[in-house]
Amino acid sequence: MTPPLILGIESSCDESACALVDADGRVWAQAVASQVDLHARFGGVVPEVAARRHIEAMLPLVDELFAEAGVDWNAVHAIGVTQGPGLIGCLLVGLETAKTLAWLHDKPLIGVNHLAGHLYALAVAPPRGEHLLIERGERVAVLPAARAGSAEDADAARIAQPQYPFVGLIVSGGHTSLVWADAPDRIRTLAQTRDDAVGEAYDKVARALGLGYPGGPVMDRLAAEGDPEACPLRAPMLRRDKPDFSFSGLKTAAGRLAEQLHARYPEGIPEAELKNVCAGFQAAAVESLLGKSLNALSEHGARDLVVSGGVACNRGLRRRAEDLCRRRPDLRVWFPHPSICTDNAMMIAGLAWQLDPLPHRAALALNADAGMGLG
Ligand code: KG4
Ligand code: ZN
Repeated sequence: MTPPLILGIESSCDESACALVDADGRVWAQAVASQVDLHARFGGVVPEVAARRHIEAMLPLVDELFAEAGVDWNAVHAIGVTQGPGLIGCLLVGLETAKTLAWLHDKPLIGVNHLAGHLYALAVAPPRGEHLLIERGERVAVLPAARAGSAEDADAARIAQPQYPFVGLIVSGGHTSLVWADAPDRIRTLAQTRDDAVGEAYDKVARALGLGYPGGPVMDRLAAEGDPEACPLRAPMLRRDKPDFSFSGLKTAAGRLAEQLHARYPEGIPEAELKNVCAGFQAAAVESLLGKSLNALSEHGARDLVVSGGVACNRGLRRRAEDLCRRRPDLRVWFPHPSICTDNAMMIAGLAWQLDPLPHRAALALNADAGMGLG
C-alpha cells in the first residue's frame, strides 16, 4: 500500500523539478529537467528563456513522475510548491501549474520557501546515496530515520538529525546566507552576501577562464589538483565584526588574473595555471564560508552546522569542514547528498509535510514572491 504522498513542484531558477515524498521523508519518485545546456552559451541563466522552458517541461515531467512511482492522484495528499525566492517568471510557472493541478484534483496546496527547503534537505531520503555528517574529522554516512532502518541501508551508521536550533549555511548560485533555524519553518537570517552569491562568483570566474557553465563543478575538479599558494587570491571579509559575506572583490580579482593569463598565453592557458587559479579561488571562497560559519556557531553557542544549496556539493568545502571538526570536536557539520543539495523538488515536498495547507480560497490566490524572506 502506498502511503499518502506530497507532490512537490520546484521552478525557482533553471531546473524544472517535481517529486513524490511520504511523511517520513522517503522519496517515491523524482524528476528534474535541467536547463543547463539552454543557458550555457549565455554563461548564466536568462530568466525569460528559463520561464518559457519551464512551461514546456512541467506537465510532461509530472506525468513521468507518476509513471515512475506507479501511483495515481489517489495517492496524493497535497501539493507543495516553491513560492519564492527566485526568478519571478519561473516561479509563476510552477505556482500556476500547482494551483491548476490542486483545483483539478481537489488537493490542498502548500506554499514553500525555497531557502527553507534547501535547509530541510537532510530530513529527506533521496532515492540513492546518503547524507554526510562530519564529526571529529571523521566522515559518517547518515540517513533520515525513514531509510536508516531498512535492510538495504544497514551500513548507514547513523540517523541524520541535527538538533534544532542549528546554524545553516545556504550556498547556491543565487544565495549565500547564514541562518538560525529554530524549526523547519522558523528560520531567521544572521548574515548574507552584500553582493554576489558564491555560486555566481564561481560561475563568472569559470566563464572568465573559459571553463564553461556552470562553473562550480569544473572549478572544484581542477582546484583539487592545483596549488592555492601559487595563486595570489585571498579570502574576502574575514573580520569578525563583519558577519556578512562579499564575493565580488574576489570575483573581480580572479577575473583580472584570468585576463592576464589570456594575454600571456594567447594559445590557451596551460592546465597547470588554470588549476592553480581554481585552487586559489576555491581556498579563498571556502575560508570565507567556513570562517563566517564558525563565528556564527561560536556567537550563538550552537553545535551543528547544516550546509546546503548547489555549492554544498563542493569537495574542497567538505574537506575543509573535516579539518575544522578535527580542531573543534565540539562541532558537527552536515551536508545533504549532492543530489539533494542542488535545486530539486524532494526538499520542497518534504518540507511541505511540516507546513499547514492553505485554505481553498487562499490557495487559488497564492502569488509568487521573488524576494520571499525567511519566517
Ligand atoms: O542550488 P543550485 O542548484 O541553484 C541555485 O539555487 O542557484 O546551485 C547552483 C550553483 C551554481 O552556481 C553552481 O556553479 C554551483 O551551485 N555548484 C558548485 C558545485 N556544484 C554546483 N559550486 C562549487 N562547487 C561545486 N562542486
Ligand atoms: Zn536553490
